[in-house]
Amino acid sequence: MSVGTAPEGRHFVGTPATAPGPLGPDMLRALVGIRADPLAYLASAWREYGDVVQFPIPRPPSYLVNDPDAVWQVLVNTGRTYGKSTIQYRSLALVTGDGLLAADTPAWREQRPLVQPAFHHRTLDRIVAHVVAAGERVIDEWSHNAAGLGAAGAVVDVDAAMMRAALEVVGHALFGTDLSPDADRLAAATLAALDVVVARARVPITPPAWVPSPGNLRLQAAVRELDSAVLAMVTERRRGPSGGESADMIDLLLAARTADGRALTRRQVRDQIATFVVAGHETVATALAGAWALLAGDPERQRLLAAESDTVLGGRPPTMADVVRLPYARAVMDEALRLYPPAWLLTRATLEPVQLAGVDVPAGALLIMSPWLLHRHPDRWDRPDAFEPERFLPGAAQTVDRTAFLPFGAGLRQCIGRDFAYVEGVLLLAQLAGRIEVSYPPGGTLPRAEPLVTMRPVGGVRLRVRVRPG
Ligand code: HEM
Repeated sequence: MSVGTAPEGRHFVGTPATAPGPLGPDMLRALVGIRADPLAYLASAWREYGDVVQFPIPRPPSYLVNDPDAVWQVLVNTGRTYGKSTIQYRSLALVTGDGLLAADTPAWREQRPLVQPAFHHRTLDRIVAHVVAAGERVIDEWSHNAAGLGAAGAVVDVDAAMMRAALEVVGHALFGTDLSPDADRLAAATLAALDVVVARARVPITPPAWVPSPGNLRLQAAVRELDSAVLAMVTERRRGPSGGESADMIDLLLAARTADGRALTRRQVRDQIATFVVAGHETVATALAGAWALLAGDPERQRLLAAESDTVLGGRPPTMADVVRLPYARAVMDEALRLYPPAWLLTRATLEPVQLAGVDVPAGALLIMSPWLLHRHPDRWDRPDAFEPERFLPGAAQTVDRTAFLPFGAGLRQCIGRDFAYVEGVLLLAQLAGRIEVSYPPGGTLPRAEPLVTMRPVGGVRLRVRVRPG
């Protein structure tokens, strides 16, 4: 897709336009459209104006960037030419504080080395048991629902089941095997606070966080609850970690030290924990729900996934060693992440004037990038809208251009939980595919995706689930 030219002499109050974009009455439509249905609006702006679009927002000058090379350049240069101090991450920080995801470069640089050990491969080894247990619980529940229904199966919300399973896995990884009431309180408070942040983003004018509006009061209450749950948990751990081989992520965060002996402060530990709940729960669940929704419409590919599961697992619980033996499950997960990237929006601020795809962008501009659009770019993907997991298989006829596949971002700020997500996603897909079959009930179809903090299926994913004999 080519980039159009900026109209001569076009200005937004005090800011020269440097890229094509909506003007005149289209400006108002743009502002309304972006709030009402951001995904549809971004897609239409891209189709109409090209790979770099300037929106009619003077402060900060705001650009949609969907040129694959330019997106790559922005992500890999974050920390130097680009920062994360944007409206998106500042809203998230109302819940996660300066946790890794929302932190701008200086705070991030200090904390990342301290957080990294919590994602050591020993942690990943330990999550496998929790993944298997969560998968078994899903199968038991569905077997119970479908008991006696035979081939008709039961219609269930697969998305809700994936949300519960993913929360269970990240909860156990963080807090160990004995999930205390504080852990439940903490997860519930984080999610409640996140809901308020999403609701705030939906209204045209949001009062600053200090104004006692109903939304802000709810946010403050949820954040207070989150703070007190984390405090209770951290105080408990300081009395004595769960320790040794069974150390969970909180123990690892509390034990981490920089080369000069500094530890994370209590506030920083709280921010990381809230970040893990936010970043590690809905994302994985959405990817899995998307995979099942796609498989339900494609019985042949579902059969291929089940056949791989039968051959490799033969009905036994999966282990860490199986992750690399399940290439088709991995390809299904990748294709679901391509078509429904949970992190559908990435933003950056320019720290200096730059040129992106031939467009001059001033310092202090907001860059909006969407893996959802990028993953459908016709210059980089054949049949971009088709569900074809085979494109991700080793030895596929046409190799995937990894620079145009960014479900986990790229560069130094790439997702720290990427391996965690693949271990969980691939093993759960294979484990469930060996035991269940999904299809759409009459009139059912692929749900519409709604872009919230992550991209969520509207109304869940209601599928007919038939349990294969165990
Ligand atoms: C399918 C699942 C997941 C997806 C699609 C996903 C996506 C992403 C993306 C796109 C970023 C980069 C954001 C940016 O560049 O602005 C990111 C960062 C991050 N993710 Fe994930 N994520 C997933 C799972 C997880 C899990 C399981 C965890 C933790 C338990 C996690 C924790 C984080 C953290 C802490 C960061 C910030 C990393 C940094 O800046 O150093 N994510 N994730």
